[in-house]
Amino acid sequence: MKKRRRIYEGKAKILYEGPEPGTLVQFFKDDATAYNKQKHDIIDGKGVLNNRISEHIFQSMTKIGIPNHFIRRMNMREQLIKEVEIIPVEVIVRNIAAGTLCQRLGLTEGEVLPRSIIEFCYKKDELNDPLVAEEHITAFGWASPQEIDDIMALAIRVNDFLSGLFLGIGIQLVDFKIELGRHWENDAMRIIVADEISPDSCRLWDIKTQEKMDKDRFRRDLGGLVDAYKEVANRLGIMQESEPPRGKGPVLVSDNDKAKD
Ligand code: CDP
Repeated sequence: MKKRRRIYEGKAKILYEGPEPGTLVQFFKDDATAYNKQKHDIIDGKGVLNNRISEHIFQSMTKIGIPNHFIRRMNMREQLIKEVEIIPVEVIVRNIAAGTLCQRLGLTEGEVLPRSIIEFCYKKDELNDPLVAEEHITAFGWASPQEIDDIMALAIRVNDFLSGLFLGIGIQLVDFKIELGRHWENDAMRIIVADEISPDSCRLWDIKTQEKMDKDRFRRDLGGLVDAYKEVANRLGIMQESEPPRGKGPVLVSDNDKAKD
């Protein structure tokens, strides 16, 4: 088999050259990292689950017109994506206080925020992805003011869509991170959602039990990460194909049914 050129290796994913120009292959690893790689582990099956969950979310976004990089899933761990120029800013949207927001502002985890809050972090591992303001983004040329407007509009659409999607399956969307990229079609450029959206990049709490169903299970040594991700996948109605085939089995026929024959 022809060896593919590796373009980039991140903490949880590898990008390879795609089969056609303008495409890449995104491979989901089983690696879990937190606190900028200070904590690292291999969690069997995580990559497969994130590939499927992210596929489902990106495909649904395409259906409702949220532009994104997803083309198709290739196999259990890989998806074909559009090549973009990644904007070096992570966009975090928060609905409920958690994580670093609580530490920074002294909020109690679980407080519902007065409104959804959008934050920007500069993508720079060496600096621990510091929080930055729009001023930094425009002054250093990471994105233009018009692009920031587009990014914020996209982030709000993704938040509305994801909040509804998860609410429908009994899960609260606490916060999430997205990455965006510039994509050229002929001579026109537009900003589209890139990277992944999965329990690695979202905080997801079960509405009834408030149990965490996301990467905090790893960050906080709670265990049961794969089971939690599986539960998210099951509630989304995906992953069925790996279940054993369901035979019809014997069916009880009641006297009423017989009468209808
Ligand atoms: O996750 P952590 O407490 O380090 O940071 P946060 O700013 O509270 O994270 C907000 C949301 O963005 C969480 O859902 C994180 O999982 C996600 N995030 C991410 O996926 N990647 C990062 N580099 C930072 C945050």
